[in-house]
Amino acid sequence: MSPAGDYYIDGPVPETPEPSEYPAPWTATRVVGTRRPRVDAYERVSGTAVYPSDVILPDMLYGAILRCPHAHARVLEVDTSAAARMPGVAVVLSAADREADVDWHYSGGDSSKLFDPVIRFEGDTVAAVAAETPHQARDAARAIAVRYEVLPHVLDPERALSPGAPLVGGDGNRQGEPDTHERGDIAAGFAAADVVLEKVFHTAYELHNPMELHGCVARWDGGRLVIWESLQGVYITQTVISRVLGLPLANIRVIGHYMGGGFGSKLQPSKHTVIAALLARKTARPVKLFLSREEVMLVAGNRPGTVMRFKAGVKRDGTLTAIDFESLSSAGGHFGGGAGIVDWVVKDLYACPNVRTRNELAFINAGPARPFRAPGHPQGAWALEQMMDALAEAIGMDPVELRLRNVPAVSQARGDQPYTTTGLRQCLEEGAKAFGWAQARKAPPGDGHLRRGVGMGACLWVAGGGGPPSTAIVRMYSDGSVNLNMGASDIGTGTKTVMAIVVAEELGIDPDAIQIENADTGTTQFATSSGGSKTVPTESPAVREAAYLVKKQLLEAAAEDKGWPLDDLVLVEGAVERRSSPSDRVAIGDLGLLKRRGVVVGVGYRGPNPEGKIVNPFAAQFCEVEVNTRTGEVTILRFVAAHESGRVLNRLTFDNQVFGGIAMGIGFAMTEERVLDEATGKLVSLSLHDYKIPTALDVPADMGVVAIDPHDHECNTTSTKGVGEPATIPTAPAIANAIHHATGVWVTHAPTNAMRLIELLEAERKGA
Ligand code: MOS
Repeated sequence: MSPAGDYYIDGPVPETPEPSEYPAPWTATRVVGTRRPRVDAYERVSGTAVYPSDVILPDMLYGAILRCPHAHARVLEVDTSAAARMPGVAVVLSAADREADVDWHYSGGDSSKLFDPVIRFEGDTVAAVAAETPHQARDAARAIAVRYEVLPHVLDPERALSPGAPLVGGDGNRQGEPDTHERGDIAAGFAAADVVLEKVFHTAYELHNPMELHGCVARWDGGRLVIWESLQGVYITQTVISRVLGLPLANIRVIGHYMGGGFGSKLQPSKHTVIAALLARKTARPVKLFLSREEVMLVAGNRPGTVMRFKAGVKRDGTLTAIDFESLSSAGGHFGGGAGIVDWVVKDLYACPNVRTRNELAFINAGPARPFRAPGHPQGAWALEQMMDALAEAIGMDPVELRLRNVPAVSQARGDQPYTTTGLRQCLEEGAKAFGWAQARKAPPGDGHLRRGVGMGACLWVAGGGGPPSTAIVRMYSDGSVNLNMGASDIGTGTKTVMAIVVAEELGIDPDAIQIENADTGTTQFATSSGGSKTVPTESPAVREAAYLVKKQLLEAAAEDKGWPLDDLVLVEGAVERRSSPSDRVAIGDLGLLKRRGVVVGVGYRGPNPEGKIVNPFAAQFCEVEVNTRTGEVTILRFVAAHESGRVLNRLTFDNQVFGGIAMGIGFAMTEERVLDEATGKLVSLSLHDYKIPTALDVPADMGVVAIDPHDHECNTTSTKGVGEPATIPTAPAIANAIHHATGVWVTHAPTNAMRLIELLEAERKGA
């Protein structure tokens, strides 16, 4: 899978021209790199920010979807007559309606009907209703009578590929061709090793659970459709809906000023978006359609679980000689995105000349996968980083030392192209120092039933460099006030604040004073979806360019008006000053330029990344755990995360991204697991009671971030790379390695809940 496929629009995107000038890297900075609260913090915490789920329009109806209760079924008959007579019902929509006869596209060329005649996963759409209240809509959806022919289901990829398995999709349940990589000679590599280890690792399917549920409000204004939706990108929604409904792009306005988390599950719209638009068109009234938590768990996407077979060889001096890796996984009943690149860290994180990897996918009767914060990487890292610790133990070497001996200078999986910078070595060294690794690793685990241990893991993220297209517009008015216009969504990561910091740095003003227009196809510049840890490195160079061009015009205007030398001039709080004599000062409103025009405008573009080089972020995380060997409970005591994501623009949101990534990684390591019932194929872990995401009690208060800045002036004009995804990749194996250090058992199966761990501890006791 190309990770780009899920973030960019499948079709033409407006190319951005090469910037007219590249500003030099910042040297001393005033706001960049400081800790700034969000520019919209008050709106967010006071509840005055209008999220899509807050939108209420006059005359609005509520939509509800009837979803198939079976994992695999043929829809024989849909009788909507009783539902249509229910109180408050305005319209019922099913496959019998001509306007509902539209195709829905998954990834990889896999398409289906909006209301599919053969349902491949529990929760797929069968019919929909719009009514005066949400309760009337749900009651009416339940009153739709459907006759199904229930088909045999298969839930396990290995079984799906075995002879005689029920056919889910394709011709033989294989989801695309296996993705393979091969370099060197693995047989020779294993022959040259002093130690060869083999292990099998499992990870569970994780379900997307953003705070704000998936949904939208759709309103028609004549032939124009306006959609408020909780999504990571407005332009991709415009494109997808235009294609599905056959509407001109100009007739679709998508607004996404605020959204409550997506993590990849909101990179694109979903079937519900189309349904809301159709219900609104049929009734000529606005329709609000938000999914329930249960519906989100059923259909909004997952991180595919994996079975990973891993064989690795190492010499006594710590040189990796060979890696052989296979993963089997499933993108679900349809080809959901984000189901590949499980092997990326395996084939690219450490120097190893002889490597073979193979990733296979199979159709199963379960919800489609979706990109999920660093697709594939946490799974691969779960295997690789435990394997590295096992190899280190086998040759009697410290785990950090083993990794340091295998830091690569080039991307081996991409034809040995060099990285612009790799901070992996510094992440390992500085992280270990900040954590107190050497001492902590030597400390005895304790001899009672409470055992302490420390562990670590490292990573890179395959993307995170960003790139064109991006366009931003900055306006400074004659009173010195500033407006920024950009298309990017702020998905909760603090994008607006970071971009305000960039503008403020260039223009010598306070970030809070900047007004921002963003994420609205009707009024803002084109932007790709916020994802792939690319928003900051994609947008900030264009934003900087726009502000820089405003500054340039103002300084030139002052030089001309006053006869001052241009290179002596600076812009400070709405005035141009002479550096050498700050009393020589002119308010920008007094410049001839602003007296004539009233506003100065800068249009910034994002230039290309350096040719033939790879821009990736790196990280290493360290943690300490306490294991109760009587109960199998694990308490995570502390984390230190060292991250090289280029220059940090806002240290506060940077640290918070890392803390959030660790919290998510704790869920992957300890609790999150989709449970399907073997007999019925139905989702059993269908609530936040049965599907446990970490809470404040599961996340240590003691967390620290070490920011490594390699001064990467080659990657882009703000020297930035992404941090959102690397933050969650090495967390889970760091915990597993710490549990091993504390107890001696390898927890190869994620999540490592108390039930699993107590069995492993029991086996260890019996074996000893
Ligand atoms: Mo993320 S999985 O790039 O939204």
